[in-house]
Amino acid sequence: MNRRKFVALAGGGVILAAGTGGFLVTRTPDKALQPWQDAGSVYSDPRKKALSYAILAPNPHNRQPWLIDLSKVGQATIYVDTDRLLPHTDPYSRQITIGLGCFLELMRMAAGHDGFRVDMDLFPQGQDSEALDRRPIAIATFVKDSTVKPDPLFKHVLARRSLKEPYDMERAVSSEVLSKLQAVTGDGVVSGSSNDRAVVQSLRALTRDAMIVEIETHRTYKESVDLFRIGKSEVEANPDGIDFSGPMFETMHLTGLFSREAALDRTSSSFSQGREIVLKSIDATMAHFWLGTPGNSRNDQINAGRDWLRVNLAATSLGLGIQPLSQALQEYPEMATHYEEIHRMVAPEGGTVQMLARLGYGASIPQSPRWPLSAKIMKEQV
Ligand SMILES: Cc1cc2nc3c(=O)[nH]c(=O)nc-3n(C[C@H](O)[C@H](O)[C@H](O)COP(=O)(O)O)c2cc1C
Repeated sequence: MNRRKFVALAGGGVILAAGTGGFLVTRTPDKALQPWQDAGSVYSDPRKKALSYAILAPNPHNRQPWLIDLSKVGQATIYVDTDRLLPHTDPYSRQITIGLGCFLELMRMAAGHDGFRVDMDLFPQGQDSEALDRRPIAIATFVKDSTVKPDPLFKHVLARRSLKEPYDMERAVSSEVLSKLQAVTGDGVVSGSSNDRAVVQSLRALTRDAMIVEIETHRTYKESVDLFRIGKSEVEANPDGIDFSGPMFETMHLTGLFSREAALDRTSSSFSQGREIVLKSIDATMAHFWLGTPGNSRNDQINAGRDWLRVNLAATSLGLGIQPLSQALQEYPEMATHYEEIHRMVAPEGGTVQMLARLGYGASIPQSPRWPLSAKIMKEQV
């Protein structure tokens, strides 16, 4: 959501007044941001050290669906928390699996930085392409290895964001920058990008229309609204989902201008203005980027996630904003036409488009909330 526009829509006086002085300072959800401070610094166990970075991975709707078993010496077994799936917008948990791929890649990078190689056994008890279940996603074995090379992208981890603001429409994204992003992908994942005016215009239109479908479809829109965390106390109680923290949203919440109920009420100004803000960001895009895989197995999705993390970090290293726009890639009936259209446009040779994103230069924003690592560890060595 865009701060400046929200101020305008809500009647500047009240909101701007609330944004000054001590209120601003005290409404930052410090506890929910603490995992960004703790990463790498408070743990001596190399697995926990690496995992303290992995929990900062990008993931759909910031559900943070990972669970970790540390009961075996030198190993971390990663599970998905099946209570944190997105059944309406992600019916086969394809996107959740991509987020787990981001997590595993960040864990691997962090371990490498600490002199450990991670041997990864993916889906050791098998996989189901329709649903994720309680079988492990990966068994990661940590091995001290002096030959392991630190990954140069790792130093951008704490600065990485998904930048959801409108981008600077005067500042082009060069083809050279796009090539640099594409260069960090591999492992059976195919990347593509465009800054061509006509292509970008078509993709803006398609991603906008797909967003409208998601918003107009009650159950998919409600899945997002149910995950709105409005104001410091909600964000700190549940440091996940879609975060609306900061004094402006807090004041709007307190004065009844913004709530989950209002966001769901199609006759309210919260609904129409919120919709407008999201669509404006989609329009304020200078280039697009996508990742695809020839097949669509769980391993393909994990590999797409590993590459997505790398692309996101590479964008950070270039000072470039990047935001996934997943709506057109979602597999529910109302989205079928847009799903076919995006595949026709960017994957005419076949395969599955796993990630689609907008690019541009934009404002700097704070980190997004995280559950602490301790909340994600199911079992430890005794
Ligand atoms: C598979 C996947 C799909 C995503 N889809 C969207 C999306 O459609 N729209 C969006 O704004 N962000 C999307 N995101 C970004 C997440 O919302 C973001 O990673 C999460 O909120 C945490 O924020 P951070 O990346 O700034 O740490 C997606 C991320 C992943 C990994």
